[in-house]
Amino acid sequence: MKKVYIETYGCQMNVNDTEVIFAILSDAGYERTEVMEEADLVMANTCSIRDNAEQRIWGRIEVFHQLRKSRSGVLVGIVGCMAERLKDKLLDTHKVDLVVGPDAYRSLPKLLAAVTPDSPQIDVLLSRSETYADITPVRTDRNGISAFISIMRGCNNVCSYCVVPYTRGAERSRDAHTIVREACDVYARGYKEVTLLGQNVDSYLWKSASETVNFAGLLERVADIAPDLRVRFATSHPKDISDEVIAVMASRPNICKHIHLPVQSGSSRMLELMRRKYDREWYLERVAAIRRAMPDCGLTTDVIAGFCSETLEDHAQTLSLMEEVGFDWAFMFAYSDRPGTLANRAMQDDVPAAEKNRRLNEIIELQNRKSLERYRAQIGRTLEVLVEGPSKRDPSQLCGRASNNMMCVFPASGRSKGTYTVVKVIDCTSATLICE
Ligand code: 5AD
Ligand code: SF4
Repeated sequence: MKKVYIETYGCQMNVNDTEVIFAILSDAGYERTEVMEEADLVMANTCSIRDNAEQRIWGRIEVFHQLRKSRSGVLVGIVGCMAERLKDKLLDTHKVDLVVGPDAYRSLPKLLAAVTPDSPQIDVLLSRSETYADITPVRTDRNGISAFISIMRGCNNVCSYCVVPYTRGAERSRDAHTIVREACDVYARGYKEVTLLGQNVDSYLWKSASETVNFAGLLERVADIAPDLRVRFATSHPKDISDEVIAVMASRPNICKHIHLPVQSGSSRMLELMRRKYDREWYLERVAAIRRAMPDCGLTTDVIAGFCSETLEDHAQTLSLMEEVGFDWAFMFAYSDRPGTLANRAMQDDVPAAEKNRRLNEIIELQNRKSLERYRAQIGRTLEVLVEGPSKRDPSQLCGRASNNMMCVFPASGRSKGTYTVVKVIDCTSATLICE
């Protein structure tokens, strides 16, 4: 049997895609290895979201080339978003053997049968219908507690800064029955938590001759599989998160009370230029609606510093929104100009790098302070956590997440992985609740 080694970069969707690729390749006679040096096929499943993501991968491609030099017959493949973005450039100037985009993984066996050192192969066709619905991913997570399930692919929003619509194509929703079946299957195998994944889960919509299922409906069906199966989802879009979804979340104890709701900016002027299709007031109203229905709901976000033409006043609006909402946690980025996007074509990337980083640091500092506040507010409370395993810092302790997605650390005392336990918060850092 031939051996395949895959490195995965970027988002959780990519982690899932790698599991789909392992499934397809195992049918084609490849077995997975975690040792790059013994592989016959070495691949990177890549990310294009920011320039620094691509820079890291260029470094890895160099390493793969060294390996190919030292062992004849080794093939190097680039798949995922960078494959889609750069297409045959990867063959011509970077001399890889295989280039496959996110919608073309089914053609891997055919491409591998045809590839030789003199005849590299490429398939970067995007599809309107591919969802890999019938493929059972080879689970590569090691904890066996928490599984991720893709419910849709692609993205129909054209946020002006974002490369994803170009690398992952148009939005399409996966058959609701195959999603529920996959969730039942992982539950039967002992998993206790599923996370439903999509670029914009709120616009999930699947229709058959006899039924139409929206995201609220899907959430309900998955939550009703079993009361001790926790359900999470990501990512929500502020323009689309509906009262119906909020109501379903509030009605089911096993749907975790956490929403990742990327705001990107607190300035309505920036949001307009970003083509986010909501403004500051809309965002704050959605947060208020979430908190009315679920006062303890965890809220996290994504923020971009220094987008095209951002002024100090726009930046101050972002800081004030973050101050007002009080997110538990945030992913914070300096704007990175991506070739082919609307912003790249029609706007000026005119905030100097040093100023972007200065603003980013201000955002990070504010968020660190807010995180600590949010975590401190939990001290004295009792929370139900799903035990994930030993804590990384102190293996004599266990760790697990509360419903609001905060990580808790607590003494092991006989509890085991995959069970629920109630803990009391006694202390915290800005990223962990220390419990007894
Ligand atoms: N520059 C910086 N951050 C970006 N993101 C997406 N595109 C860019 C870009 N060009 C961020 C957004 C998004 C997250 C996944 O990545 O905040 O929500
Ligand atoms: Fe995921 Fe976006 Fe990176 Fe593609 S570009 S891997 S969709 S984060």
